[in-house]
Amino acid sequence: MTNERNSARWLQRGGWRGVACLAVLLVAGAAQADGDPAAGKRVFARCQSCHQVGPSARNLVGPELNGLIGRTSGTVAGYAYSPALTDAGIVWDRDAIAAFVKNPQGFAKGTRMASPGPLKPADVDNLIAYLATFAADGGAAQ
Ligand code: HEC
Repeated sequence: MTNERNSARWLQRGGWRGVACLAVLLVAGAAQADGDPAAGKRVFARCQSCHQVGPSARNLVGPELNGLIGRTSGTVAGYAYSPALTDAGIVWDRDAIAAFVKNPQGFAKGTRMASPGPLKPADVDNLIAYLATFAADGGAAQ
């Protein structure tokens, strides 16, 4: 029997469905690699004494973190930042957030944010995935 016939039979038996399933799993797997928002919510407990997110988020010890990804450092209205963040003009992308939470002083020398303590790389990925769910107005990001 030729390979061609084998694959024709396999297709008839619905083997293609398996391929479609695998493709869906691969896509889901790729999204997972970017972090899990539900797990990130638990990591955010480490930030919550100083930061809020969501529709009613206010500035506390630190500024509110809605719409953080893509935001320029030091730009939340009504929050008195240190010059370390206003002068730096950091754009908060994933890498910048990861570097800052791992070592605030190392990334933005002179910042008033203290280190939130050691975070595993997976914690950081999950945390960023959670923060990415909030649009600038605190609603759900698209
Ligand atoms: C003990 C209080 C405290 C904790 C805990 C804390 N932060 Fe901060 N954070 C601050 C302060 C204060 C600032 C402003 C620093 C400045 O002006 O230099 C800040 C600033 C930031 C900024 C910059 C925001 C902007 O608008 O430029 C980010 C991002 C941030 N924090 C993320 C986090 C995350 C994520 C966590 C949890 C892992 C966390 N912080 C935990 C106090 C805290």
